[in-house]
Amino acid sequence: MALLFASPDDDPVAWTQALKRRLPDLEVRVFPELGDPRDIEAALVWLPPSGLLASLPNLKAIFSLGAGVDRLLEDPTLPPNVPICRMVDPALTRSMAEFVLLHVLRYHRDLDVFEAQQRRAEWRLHLPKPPEATVVGIMGLGELGGAAARLLVAHGFTVKGWSRSRKEIPGVASFAGVHELDAFLHDLAVLVCLLPLTAATRGILNRALFAKLPRGARLVNLARGAHLVEADLIEALASGQLAHATLDVFATEPLPADHPFWRHPKITVTPHAAAYSAPESGAQVVCENLHRLRSGEPLLHRVDRARGY
Ligand code: NAP
Ligand code: GLV
Repeated sequence: MALLFASPDDDPVAWTQALKRRLPDLEVRVFPELGDPRDIEAALVWLPPSGLLASLPNLKAIFSLGAGVDRLLEDPTLPPNVPICRMVDPALTRSMAEFVLLHVLRYHRDLDVFEAQQRRAEWRLHLPKPPEATVVGIMGLGELGGAAARLLVAHGFTVKGWSRSRKEIPGVASFAGVHELDAFLHDLAVLVCLLPLTAATRGILNRALFAKLPRGARLVNLARGAHLVEADLIEALASGQLAHATLDVFATEPLPADHPFWRHPKITVTPHAAAYSAPESGAQVVCENLHRLRSGEPLLHRVDRARGY
């Protein structure tokens, strides 16, 4: 069996070595060197060029290097009946949970306020609060949101989560579905978005939602840029409804150099850097699925195309 590896961001050598350590007989072809496309039965991809997967006549499974598969599903040339599996990798999960904790701690300890004061050479103390006084809400309590919630609970924060179905995570107040969204939002100091991008969640971070948060809440969007209505964020920061935002993902990536977010004093920008799968642990997950593919067993982490995640 040959596997095609295609990603503009991940290291093909490290992934090939990690895959072949576990499956020495696996032939790994790295895009754009396809060889005979008829040999390729599996593809391991992140942001593949449109049409690439459709050009593989014997493709039996698509493995995403990313946890989110929205860009794959948007491709009109995506082969309709080939199963897609998303990445669930302990290293990715850990680094996302760490990134969430980092930004929640930053807001909890008022670093954004101190940074603004520094720009004005203003010496003004804000006394530390206990962590339980900071209510953090995570939209999307799946693999990543769930891990982030557990880490925040371990740190002592008051943690709420919102998902489609109700969850039981010790110490986390679980809210489910659109009918419980307002109750989830009303007392949050920090809102973290870790939702998949679907028809139901596109544009969900908008003026109406911001208005349901307490005045002065902070926003952390680590999911997808299209969750956010950019003009509504600028307006909410200007009015003080939101005090600050941290954005790791953008509607257009890389974020254009002239985009107002880069220089906005109340926005922290990171370049889609929150979490990536690691070759060592990620290859283990992919090889388990290749084994299942060969033996006809159900694949792990299969995407429900109709649901969009
Ligand atoms: P996941 O395990 O599939 O979890 C998704 C969660 O969102 C689930 O709890 C799901 O609810 C909930 N959800 C989906 N649609 C919803 C809706 N309409 N209303 C309320 N809740 C909804 O996904 P994941 O692995 O945690 O990844 C989440 C996202 O993180 C990815 O899709 C990707 O966009 C983003 N991401 C970003 C980076 C980065 O570097 N910035 C890295 C990795 C991933 P149920 O559990 O009830 O189904
Ligand atoms: C990164 O954004 C991912 O979806 O894994």
